[in-house]
Amino acid sequence: MATALLLYATLVFVSLTTSYAKDKPPLYVFGDSLFDAGMTLYTGVDGDGAEFWPYGQTYFNKPSGRYCDGRVIPDFLAQFAGWPHLRTYLQPGPKNYSQGINFAAASACVLVETRPGKINLALQMYYFVQMVRKLKQQVGKLEANKLLSKAVYLIDIGGNDYFSLFDPITSGTRRLPPLPLSLRMKKDYINEILGELTTHIYTLYNKGGRKFVFPNIGPLGYFPSMKVLCMLRSEPSCVEDLHELARMHNTAFSALAKRLQTRLPGFKYSIYDFYTGVQLRVINAHRFGFKESRTACCGSGPFNGDFTCQKLEHSFTVCSNPNDYLWFDAGHPTERANEQFAIEIWSGGSNVVAPYNLHTLLSMT
Ligand SMILES: *[C@@H]1O[C@H](CO)[C@@H](O)[C@H](O)[C@H]1NC(C)=O
Repeated sequence: MATALLLYATLVFVSLTTSYAKDKPPLYVFGDSLFDAGMTLYTGVDGDGAEFWPYGQTYFNKPSGRYCDGRVIPDFLAQFAGWPHLRTYLQPGPKNYSQGINFAAASACVLVETRPGKINLALQMYYFVQMVRKLKQQVGKLEANKLLSKAVYLIDIGGNDYFSLFDPITSGTRRLPPLPLSLRMKKDYINEILGELTTHIYTLYNKGGRKFVFPNIGPLGYFPSMKVLCMLRSEPSCVEDLHELARMHNTAFSALAKRLQTRLPGFKYSIYDFYTGVQLRVINAHRFGFKESRTACCGSGPFNGDFTCQKLEHSFTVCSNPNDYLWFDAGHPTERANEQFAIEIWSGGSNVVAPYNLHTLLSMT
């Protein structure tokens, strides 16, 4: 049954990719480590990137700066849309901005006082505006404006803002709130994040952006790293607080996207239900071809939930077959899982990606 379903999904999927070829819109990618294709390699800060074995082992045969054993979601989406893997903005060498570019960087947050000094979303927007100038130099103003308005903007952000509420190491200048979080506190924090995110969406819209894709926030309490943090804080509500924050954020974000669509002429969007995508795989690993969905492939401690995988001075274990795992390290899915998420974004039904999947969004005018 599962195999038949998978086969069917693959057939539908292949027919969708081949029907799509000429006049490809660029893909501009923003966000955190789920989308990072190596930006953090070029920040000049040692140990910031996934620059050591075993990162990259499955696909690149060497570390690529991706927090994964292989490809991340935008790699697959670029491939489905007919592009080579997008280059990262800070990567040296010539870049063709007509094809798109990846600005996403590990640790990125919406709120700049959380994890200061990282390539947060505000800095990514600064880079984007800089890129728009370079694009205009490459292809001329008229063509650049055309490309910017038919481009797709992929944005994965917000998870780190919520993680940081629970994590003394990455909370920045913010004081950690006591658990359980009050409802008022949750609402205020979500509103603060969505307010800031809205200004960034306006920046993209004002530069011509019309088509947006957002994965929503995952079930944060299932991430191996967060399970360990919650164990350390020995507060029974911790995991449920995380899940409730994510669900409240996701509900509020869906409403926000709808409002933007009524307010901004031509604004179109897809929201991928990453929350459910991860939750289903954690609960029902076998249905998705995984053997292990709670413990990470690489790391140390309970669930391999300590972020020791990329740290040379730490000892850690690595599984022999990452394809059996949902999580590659304490906070990031394996390539296998990323491919499944990407297929759902590209060609999934309205139960997983709505109001449209990416394939449909691309074909809309
Ligand atoms: C950049 O990419 C576009 C679209 O694939 C292509 O038409 C163009 O020739 C490329 N430009 C350069 C300088 O390679």
